[in-house]
Amino acid sequence: MKFLVINGPNLNLLGVREPEIYGRQDYAALQRFIEAAATELGAEVEIYQSNHEGCLVDRIQEALGRFDGIVLNPAAYTHTSVAILDALKAVALPAVEVHLSDVSAREPFRQISYAGMACLKTYAGLGFEGYRQALRFLAAYLRGERDA
Ligand code: DQA
Repeated sequence: MKFLVINGPNLNLLGVREPEIYGRQDYAALQRFIEAAATELGAEVEIYQSNHEGCLVDRIQEALGRFDGIVLNPAAYTHTSVAILDALKAVALPAVEVHLSDVSAREPFRQISYAGMACLKTYAGLGFEGYRQALRFLAAYLRGERDA
């Protein structure tokens, strides 16, 4: 199984950026965490981060035929990007949404998720652990486990 993990704008500043919300570990630590989670599952993973909406759309499009599933944290584009939603729908790969923070308990403008409309599941408020749960869910889903 091969998964693509996509991270959106400002996640490259983890550790520096609002640490009381996003934690003190940096982006390199998140990458190591995701790689370890994939190894645990015997899966391959590619991790991509961009601050640019179109680059995120390009990567989703390029995933078709190359990956079995997508885990994505579109960051601020979660709440604005119909383009990312449409790209996810276009490739129709199983996708899971992750947010480090509990977006449901934050500002009203964070209450809508366009990307989430094309995702099987959302993990929010679990920090790095959300990515592990998302990869585990996708692996179980692809194995056809009913209670994935
Ligand atoms: C985020 C939540 C978004 O609302 C915010 O814009 C982010 C990060 C999270 O991981 O908690 O950049 O996706």
